[in-house]
Amino acid sequence: MSASASHITSVLKETRSFPPPPRFAAHAHIRSLEEYEELCQRARENPEAFWADQAERLHWFQRWQQVLDWKEPHAQWFVGGKLNASYNCLDRHLNTPHKNKAAIIWEGEPGESRILTYQTLHREVCQFANVLKALGMQPGDRVTIYMPMVPELAIAMLACARIGVTHSVIFGGFSADAVADRNNDAKSRLIITADGGWRRGKVIPLKDNVDEALTKSTTIEKCIVLNRCHQQITMKPGRDLWWHELMAQASADCPAVPLDSEHPLYILYTSGSTGKPKGILHTTAGYLLGTSLTHEWIFDLREEDTYWCTADIGWVTGHSYIVYGPLCNGATTLMYEGAPNYPREDRFWEIIEKYQVNIFYTAPTAIRAFIKWGDKWPNGHDLSSLRLLGSVGEPINPEAWMWYHTVIGKEKCPIVDTWWQTETGAIMIAPVPGAIATKPGSATRPFPGIIAEVVDRQGRPVPDNTGGLLVIRQPWPAMLRTIYGDDERYRQQYWNQVPHCYFTADGARRDSDGYIWIMGRVDDVLNVAGHRLSTMEIESALVHHPKVAEAAVVGRPDEIKGEGIACFVTLVGGVPASDELKKELREHVAHEIGALARPDDIRFTEALPKTRSGKIMRRLLRDIASGRETVGDTTTLEDYSALARLREEEA
Ligand code: WT7
Repeated sequence: MSASASHITSVLKETRSFPPPPRFAAHAHIRSLEEYEELCQRARENPEAFWADQAERLHWFQRWQQVLDWKEPHAQWFVGGKLNASYNCLDRHLNTPHKNKAAIIWEGEPGESRILTYQTLHREVCQFANVLKALGMQPGDRVTIYMPMVPELAIAMLACARIGVTHSVIFGGFSADAVADRNNDAKSRLIITADGGWRRGKVIPLKDNVDEALTKSTTIEKCIVLNRCHQQITMKPGRDLWWHELMAQASADCPAVPLDSEHPLYILYTSGSTGKPKGILHTTAGYLLGTSLTHEWIFDLREEDTYWCTADIGWVTGHSYIVYGPLCNGATTLMYEGAPNYPREDRFWEIIEKYQVNIFYTAPTAIRAFIKWGDKWPNGHDLSSLRLLGSVGEPINPEAWMWYHTVIGKEKCPIVDTWWQTETGAIMIAPVPGAIATKPGSATRPFPGIIAEVVDRQGRPVPDNTGGLLVIRQPWPAMLRTIYGDDERYRQQYWNQVPHCYFTADGARRDSDGYIWIMGRVDDVLNVAGHRLSTMEIESALVHHPKVAEAAVVGRPDEIKGEGIACFVTLVGGVPASDELKKELREHVAHEIGALARPDDIRFTEALPKTRSGKIMRRLLRDIASGRETVGDTTTLEDYSALARLREEEA
């Protein structure tokens, strides 16, 4: 963090506000602002009593003796308790009307669908847990899962959890090298994969990648392969085993093992601003409590809902809000294997209509793509089943928010803009939709029990409407416990930046209503002539222009101003690039934000380089903007040609 990362000048002006629709609020879990504030106050006065009350929602083999043991920066929640995440997601629904309810509705990219009830899912999980046991997997061992978005991915995770094996899911878009690094870091004994996975009609060669990764993985003993795409692959005798052959012999009798509250549930790798990926470690009880409670209150889950989170399970959003949160709540969770524009740009809207989806949770980058593809795609489908919309992953610019609200939500669905991180495990800041009025672009207010503040580097709250650092003041149940194998890095990155606070590395401001506006990572903050500007706010201004589809803003060195503002802009289909338009956009930003923010440099480009989770790779853009050679890791880049084209355009 730079020495003066606080006091970021905030320039986003957004004054619209949308109260909860009265008919929505009348049936919501939390029905009024008073109710929400009462919960917050109770949690603030006695956090342990608040969380202990909420923990009653879980099934315990043995109750805890102590709610929280906090020795900064290490937390243990529900000390002495015993439970099992797989039992909570499956077994306890079996003696209830949930037994034959759809747990997972799955849609394959080529068009198949499968529905697994709680009972059939339970059966497969038990069988696969027995497969893992037969291969010698023990509680505490690590297993890597590198699979496409098929039900077997969730089955593998829940089977690990059932016997106390810690899973490390690696997103199917990662390269062989990335898989090898993560295998080695976690010292995984086993890897579970598939021959391939479907993406835009092509097969991603997962098993080939694993073969290459395993030449560099020092700890993997066996590899289980699911036959998803009937690909020609090589099976190495003695090492590689077919999923279906192992399952054919496995018994469906496998009791869930009672595990300590703090038993490590999973490791999930996330990239830091520099260096090797961090293995974020989550444990059992606190994580399950955090994900299930937020899933119920923030998505206002009802028994009859069909709920769809479009994330990939390879990211934390999929762990928390496709698998653990929804299944713990006995919900019906939809899982789609492929791309949003295959075979056509209306695939998502077709799926919503087909399954009568009620709750839809996606990312701003997807929303901006939908806007670019045109309204005719959603308008061609019946979306009237939708009741609630969600957003996650990056700040949603007010333009995209309004489009989501009108074109998808038909002005009747609350939008929950959910701020959280791989590290936080569960949503931290978001509107509880029956209680809190939304404002386009704001994640609104912290979840009850979460003490989020905007502070300076000493941890002193900055005045309202002044940008600062977003921190969390107290431990919360779903927080990460450490960085796997590197506790010192955990301490340094998260607890040694601002005294006695968890440091999020995000900039934010709080408005006079107590709403939090995320301004992006502090390392994405520009310092222009002594004024700190959020790149996101400049992007938002650019996207506001009718000819702009998407924009990324980065800093580049400027002798006079410290940092200059460089903008990469993709235009709406059919709009020609021209020098006039560059001028127009410069003036547009200056007009929207102030002369201070007038871009120095505008480059038109057909595509922006993105990670496979849709985040714009600003580091690469910074390199291009400043004429540097690209250094560092590009293994997560979604479309390498986007980078090559940008370089060509420059030459
Ligand atoms: C970073 C965490 C949380 C699951 C997906 C990303 C940004 C996330 C929002 C939001 C503004 C957001 C933050 C955060 N972010 N959600 N609603 N509004 N920014 O998880 O990869 O760990 O990234 O994503 O910068 O720190 P992640």
